[in-house]
Amino acid sequence: MTNPSAWWKKGTIYQIYPRSFQDSNGDGVGDLPGIMQRLDYCRWLGCDAVWLSPIYPSPMADFGYDVSDYTAIDPVFGTMADFDALVSKARRLGLRVLLDLIPNHTSDHHPWFVASRQSRDNPYRDWYVWRDPAPGGGPPNNWQSHFGGAAWEFDAATGQYYLHTYLKEQPDLNWWNPEVRRAIYDVMRFWLDRGVDGFRVDAVAHLIKDAQLRDEPPNPDYQPHQPPYHRQLHVYSMDQPELAEVIAEMRAVVDAYGDRALIGESYLPIERLCRYYGHEGRGLSFPFNFQLIKSPWEAARVRAAVESCEARLSASMWPSWVLGNHDRARVASRIGRAAARAAAVLLLTLRGTPTLYYGDEIGMVDVPIPPEMVQDPCEKNLPGYGVGRDPERTPMQWDAGPSAGFTTGRPWLPVARDYPTCNVAAQRNDPTSMLTLYRRLLELRARHPALHLGEYVPVEQPVEQVMAYVRRSAAEQFLVAINFRPQRCDVLLAGLGLGGRVRVSTHLDRDGERFAGLVRLRGNEAVVVELGENL
Ligand code: GLC
Repeated sequence: MTNPSAWWKKGTIYQIYPRSFQDSNGDGVGDLPGIMQRLDYCRWLGCDAVWLSPIYPSPMADFGYDVSDYTAIDPVFGTMADFDALVSKARRLGLRVLLDLIPNHTSDHHPWFVASRQSRDNPYRDWYVWRDPAPGGGPPNNWQSHFGGAAWEFDAATGQYYLHTYLKEQPDLNWWNPEVRRAIYDVMRFWLDRGVDGFRVDAVAHLIKDAQLRDEPPNPDYQPHQPPYHRQLHVYSMDQPELAEVIAEMRAVVDAYGDRALIGESYLPIERLCRYYGHEGRGLSFPFNFQLIKSPWEAARVRAAVESCEARLSASMWPSWVLGNHDRARVASRIGRAAARAAAVLLLTLRGTPTLYYGDEIGMVDVPIPPEMVQDPCEKNLPGYGVGRDPERTPMQWDAGPSAGFTTGRPWLPVARDYPTCNVAAQRNDPTSMLTLYRRLLELRARHPALHLGEYVPVEQPVEQVMAYVRRSAAEQFLVAINFRPQRCDVLLAGLGLGGRVRVSTHLDRDGERFAGLVRLRGNEAVVVELGENL
């Protein structure tokens, strides 16, 4: 069983994309000393942990998700001393530090792969997935890469193909090989020994592949606007039953260090994600649940996503919620800034650990990237599909100064044009800003066990544009009511038998307002109401 008071259940995680958070040396790329300067901000905001996207040495073919050394820091981000200083400062502030672990693949520059491709009998050959060409030539099977084209690359020198689920510069490790497992578990120990509080495990569902590497069947629901990867159903290249054993082994590594978190990245539907919790807490602390990113912003759809999660997770499985990350369009661009405020209320009042993506707390939007400035390999390989990830990775907007206070140099991606008004300094003391809303929600959530650990109870509403629920513990109850549309509407409190007082609202102008029976919501408005007879 997992510990009911584990920090990762009560806390909120803040995702930092290190290239874009804060540059300290004017090279236009964010770095560890920059992040360190901004840790006070993360604490002030009310987060409990920061998750850093990869900071390891990398040729940057996939901006750090192609690792060439798992136990060092890329010079563009700083040094190991910078990392240690960052962890100590985080400790002093009461912040946890989570790292990205990328076990599915290395860079093709990693010494393991350099050795592996040297000859068929190299001791590292079996650390990667090598196969002979199909009879008659061509790749060993029909598997496709996420980033376009076949998932196989031919190596003329040794006459075999190697597998790469992502770029050809990211060869997949062979997780059937116990030596590979041991090596990655040692990497985990290296960082745990340095004081990290856990990992976000990249592409976790891909680690184990079908032992026979069988062909994937076609996807009957494929739509031409989707990237070619979706032409197939991925029944053999990912989410295999043997993965449970690997995750349990990872869990054991982390558990030897006490209360650390093991989080996994996978876009699978909730019924398949459930398996990643493992048997009796011997799996992930939780897999990220991306249903709020995938769902359209409609009350019925969001409610269905939340309730299917509530229904499927057993008592030992802890939920998680995410509105954005470095791979998906920003929430303020997907649903608009006004609705994004209501979405903040949703994210921070649901049962389950919330993860915030840097900049969403000030309402940052996707930044259009001119073709000559595109960096993301996904966009370069698959132009026209709208899969580019640069727009959501642009520099954090700190103030109205040059380059939004991100760098004194030329930023690696353009800064949003609206940064003179959309920035931390401008919003910090503005009682109506998105930043103030996030901060107040985080403060309320942290202060009230009903909001972080309490039960989730849906409240039926006659109007379809509203989602309403109660979060409750033995001592307190909160009603959350969210209007998903720009039109006003009424929410009925009938049946709850209680009045209540607004503690936070999207419009930040209803504090202390008292209700009995009915809450009238303006367009895109959401309220968090503390319920009680004497309120
Ligand atoms: C994950 C990361 C993504 C990366 C991919 C390959 O999906 O979030 O950014 O490109 O894995 O490592």
